[in-house]
Amino acid sequence: MCGIVGYVGKKDCTNVLIDALSKLEYRGYDSAGIAILDNDSIKVKKTKGELKILEEKLRSDSTFHGHCGIGHTRWATHGEPSDINSHPHGNARLSIVHNGIIENYKELKSFLEKKGYVFESQTDTETVAKLLDFYYSGDPMEAITRVVKEIEGSYALGIIFKDFPDTVFAVRKDSPMIVGVGDDEYFIASDVPAFLKYTNRYILIEENEIVRINSSGVSVTDIHGIDVNKQVSVADWDMESAEKGGFEHFMLKEINEQPTAIKTTITPRISNGMPDLSECGITPERLAAYNNIFIVACGTAMHAGMLGKYIIEKLARVSVTVDVASEFRYRDPIISDNDLVILVSQSGETADTKEALRIAKEMGADTLGIVNVKGSFIAREADMVLYTHAGPEIAVASTKAYMVQIAMFYLFAFELAYAKGTISKEECVRLTSVLEQVPEKVGALLETQSSCQYIAHQLMNADSLLYIGRGLDYALSMEGSLKLKEVSYIHSESYAAGELKHGTISLVTDEMPVIAVATQRKLYEKTLNNVLEVKTRGAKVIFITHENINVSEEAADYVIGIPSIDDILMPMLAIVPLQLIAYYTSVAKGINPDKPRNLAKSVTVE
Ligand code: M6R
Repeated sequence: MCGIVGYVGKKDCTNVLIDALSKLEYRGYDSAGIAILDNDSIKVKKTKGELKILEEKLRSDSTFHGHCGIGHTRWATHGEPSDINSHPHGNARLSIVHNGIIENYKELKSFLEKKGYVFESQTDTETVAKLLDFYYSGDPMEAITRVVKEIEGSYALGIIFKDFPDTVFAVRKDSPMIVGVGDDEYFIASDVPAFLKYTNRYILIEENEIVRINSSGVSVTDIHGIDVNKQVSVADWDMESAEKGGFEHFMLKEINEQPTAIKTTITPRISNGMPDLSECGITPERLAAYNNIFIVACGTAMHAGMLGKYIIEKLARVSVTVDVASEFRYRDPIISDNDLVILVSQSGETADTKEALRIAKEMGADTLGIVNVKGSFIAREADMVLYTHAGPEIAVASTKAYMVQIAMFYLFAFELAYAKGTISKEECVRLTSVLEQVPEKVGALLETQSSCQYIAHQLMNADSLLYIGRGLDYALSMEGSLKLKEVSYIHSESYAAGELKHGTISLVTDEMPVIAVATQRKLYEKTLNNVLEVKTRGAKVIFITHENINVSEEAADYVIGIPSIDDILMPMLAIVPLQLIAYYTSVAKGINPDKPRNLAKSVTVE
């Protein structure tokens, strides 16, 4: 949460910083601010609200130009969103931007108050700025080193000093930060899209390495002041992938990118018709040796894990436990060294999932990260990593990342099932080839979903709704429900259809929308009965099933027909209308689906 950027180069840094921040707004949009070095003085402009408000303020200030500066887009943790709590923080000597949480800020604050410092904001970050000022007597590296030794918690810090007019300093621990390497220009940023327009070359920064970027390049030292040689990597994301490309919103663009994302994720992992995950060290022998599998993640990634559980258990007959990472880390799970713990994360930086990874490693289990962002914490720290190739996901509501996470679970389940001997080689090849047909089918489905827009208009005034399904459809409906509430602010719950009668059906009143997912033929009649139960109690039912199943008017008000494929793979198709319904409901309500209130894409604090 929070995005930080920094720039040194020949361009006007105000424009570059604003542009870079616009690519990081998915990390928070409670406030925005920049600090630049201009004629040996530090100038700061910051404001509550989205970046566009800062941009307006800057437009009316023609003096705000320089070649070196830092910027911030905030998701508030300590202190309400306000001008005063916005970053950068500092004084005439130095200025900082921060992503993370300083856990011991209260003690540090009282120490600094005793030294005569007066605090203006309610943020933890101001403590770091003042501590830095306290230790700074002309040597930034010394001051940063002393600060880093005293602060506890997570941080990615971008820092400028008045006395060093062409240098941005930076340091990180438990919050992401990378360095962008351009031609005679250098960046620091929370994520690659911030500088993709200028360069695709970047350097990963390890914990507590101190970075300096200035006109002579990038230098990195460790906490003891020893130079560290860093490798420059090349991002395979292009600039277009971080732009809306003609779509009204990133969310819609990303939904439409799903066929390509699936193809790019699965194609390199299929060899001679069989899934092949050997790139990360997974071999049939290693897979066959696992007793239990744990899948740990948050939000949408956890929902991908729920589907993974159903698929793996059904095909490979291996027991799978799915945990929300924030529960896993405190529930003292029983895990042995013959178990595999899979951490699923788009960003690879989610605080609870990172902690779950640490615990799993401590307990001796093998760990596998299914991660989208290259070089992110989980990707680096897990024993094995499988990258999903979704490209940058900018919209806060995850769509294409979910799709590729489940695609990865299919490949994994097929390979595991074959390794465990629960499916034959022929069946494994057949299932893999059906998976390969999915991108085309998703593409076709995206062409024909205008009905979702119509349904969204029927839902937009609802106070509350239910998603129901059984088996894989239940796992899928969890994600459908989260998507809708996240971007439309309509309360919704997902329920195992058979569970309704045990309490929740009492909520069903006249005209309450119920979205029923029924793609699993074996369970169809059972789900249909549950649908009839809510329908007779007045519910307005939206029924999602195979296009060749004839659903009677008695059961449904609207039917969304999905092209048929093996039942086990139906979730990859049925998720599309669920995503589109959420998107169009948000738009119909006049909400910006890319920036839902109170949310940030990357939850890097507990
Ligand atoms: O980056 P991660 O996949 O670890 O993020 C996990 C969740 O925070 C994320 O999926 C969140 O639930 C999304 N906003 C859902 O759309």
